[in-house]
Amino acid sequence: MSSNDIIKAVNFLKNDEVVAIPTETVYGLAANALCEKAVKKIFIAKGRPSDNPLIVHISNLNMTKFLVKNFDRIPFAKELAENFWPGPLTMILPKTDLIPKVTSGGLDTVAIRFPSHPIIQKIISEAGFPLAAPSANLSGSPSPTNFEHVFNDMNGKIAAIIKYENCKFGVESTIINLCSDIPKIMRPGNVTIEKISKIIPNVEIDKAVCEKFISENSIPEVICPGVKYRHYAPKTRLTIINSNQSEFLNFVKNNQKNNIVALCFEEDKKFMDEFKIPYIIYGSEKNSESQAKNLFTSLRECDNFGANIIYARCPKKDGVGLAVFNRLLRAAEFNILNLP
Ligand code: TXA
Ligand code: MG
Repeated sequence: MSSNDIIKAVNFLKNDEVVAIPTETVYGLAANALCEKAVKKIFIAKGRPSDNPLIVHISNLNMTKFLVKNFDRIPFAKELAENFWPGPLTMILPKTDLIPKVTSGGLDTVAIRFPSHPIIQKIISEAGFPLAAPSANLSGSPSPTNFEHVFNDMNGKIAAIIKYENCKFGVESTIINLCSDIPKIMRPGNVTIEKISKIIPNVEIDKAVCEKFISENSIPEVICPGVKYRHYAPKTRLTIINSNQSEFLNFVKNNQKNNIVALCFEEDKKFMDEFKIPYIIYGSEKNSESQAKNLFTSLRECDNFGANIIYARCPKKDGVGLAVFNRLLRAAEFNILNLP
C-alpha cells in the first residue's frame, strides 16, 4: 500500500467505480454514496437485496450537516459523536435529500459512520464525498477481515482492492437507531452497550440482536433490514453449544464420528489435541476482543475441513462478547444447543 494506491483508489471512486477499502472493523466495499450509478454497482458486486440499505462513511463531523436533518438537535447524536467518533459506531439518523434512495434502501433514514482507520479517512477526504460501504463479502458470507477474504469474494467484480494489514476489531460497527422513541442498539459491536448506557441510560438492545424475532402476525418485524437475511454463514452447517468447557468437550468427544469440526477457545486446545478432533481456535474464553478479531476468519477456515457440521463454543454475552454471540447466532441460523 503506497500513497499512489490511494490516488488510484480515489480516481476509481471519482469515476463511479467500486473499491474495497480496509476499516478498523472489517473491509468495506466502497462507492460514492451520493451517486446512484456507483451505489448500484455495490449491490451487484455483493449480490445484495436492494432493500438492504448501506452505511454512509464520513471523514469529518461537518459532513453530517449535508447528510443528516438537524444533526445537532437529535437527542444524543452529538454526545455519541464526541465520545465514539471516529470509531466503530454507526448512528441511524434522518436523511437529507442529498442521499439517494438507493443508498438508504428506500428509507427516510441513513446510517452514518465516521471510521477511525487512516486509509478510509484519507480516501474520503481526498475524494471529497462520503462513501457508501457495506462489508466487502458476498451477501450472506462471513465479513472479510483481511485482503485474502476480499480477494476470494470480489476478485474480478470490482475495480480494486486496497491491500493492508488485518482489520483491528474484526466485527462490524455497533449500530444504534436514534430515530426510534427509545434509542436502540440494532447490532452490537466494539462500542458496547455498557459504554453507550453511560451516555444514554435508557438505551435498549433490539430484540432481533439475540432472537429470531417474529412479530404477532408472524411477519418478521424488521427495522434493521440486514437482520432479515441469513448472515455471516460458513458453507458448513453450524450449531452453537451453550455449555461449560467440560460439557462441550464431552459433547464433541461423543459426536466425533460424525465428521465434525470444533470451533473453540485457546483453553480447549490441549483437550482437543488429545481427542484428535479437528478444531479451530477463535480466541481466549476470557477475552471477547480476541474472539471478535478472529471470528470471521475462523468461520471461513472451518469450511476447509469438508466437515458435516461445526460445533462452536458459546461466547459470554456481555461487553464485546454480545457482538461475537450475535454474529455466531446468525452464522448458526439460530441453532443453539443448551447443555445439560
Ligand atoms: O463496520 C461496519 O459497519 C462495516 C464497515 C465496512 O464500515 N460495514 C457494514 O455494513 O457492516 P453492512 O452493510 O454489512 O451492514 C450494515 C447494516 C445492515 O444490516 C443494514 O441493514 C443496516 O446496517 N442499515 C443500514 N442503513 C440502515 C438504516 N437506515 N436503517 C436501518 N438499518 C440500516
Ligand atoms: Mg455485512
